[in-house]
Amino acid sequence: MRKIVIAGNWKMHKTQAESLEFLQAFMPELEKDVEEREVILCAPYTALGVLSQNLHGSRVQLSAQNIHWEEAGAYTGEISGAMLTEMGVSYAIVGHSERRQYFCETDETVNWRALAAQRHGLTPILCIGESKQQRDAGETETVIANQLKAGLVNLDLTRLIIAYEPIWAIGTGETCGASEANRVIGLIRSQLDNPDVPIQYGGSVKPSNIDEIMAQPEIDGVLVGGASVDPANFARIVHYQ
Ligand code: 13P
Repeated sequence: MRKIVIAGNWKMHKTQAESLEFLQAFMPELEKDVEEREVILCAPYTALGVLSQNLHGSRVQLSAQNIHWEEAGAYTGEISGAMLTEMGVSYAIVGHSERRQYFCETDETVNWRALAAQRHGLTPILCIGESKQQRDAGETETVIANQLKAGLVNLDLTRLIIAYEPIWAIGTGETCGASEANRVIGLIRSQLDNPDVPIQYGGSVKPSNIDEIMAQPEIDGVLVGGASVDPANFARIVHYQ
């Protein structure tokens, strides 16, 4: 049985005070009947501590938005696995397209980061996806296959989430059609040795399209950007029908 995982990626949004305000509005909205759905907040590093203290005992899990591959060292601006687990974090996003695009991350460094997450008992959320240019050139399948092959080297497939995030659908309001997302996610699954790896869709997910996305048989959850910073919107997404 594949797990359903609904994650909100806040990106570079919310101070500690704003994170607490979010919880005050969001937690009372979280109904008991969705307990079989994993709910994750991927918050900025600075908010993880305060969120962890306030989420203690709740079913909401925390994720970092990245992790470095070394245990410690001269890596200004980076964060280690031990720093994250100490704060009660359980997941780490690796290879988000914004990291690949703006911060020069490669398939190889993404793989190292994913391995470091697993070494520390964190579950990596490995993001893959094609650009508009690659899609228009008919390269979607090849790009996905290459990112997967390089990203999965030596990873334990029983402690992994994959997020398919087509770059052209991120923050643009242009959602990938639900059936097309379902097709690509099916293709991703066909390349995995473990068919139970949860595979999420990400890219302009909102309250108005979540029901259709989650109705697709291959899609096991969503990684939500913009719509996850608003507690009412994110609650509606968690309670998809
Ligand atoms: P949006 O939902 O804002 O398109 O962002 C998606 C995303 O990048 C989640 O990681």
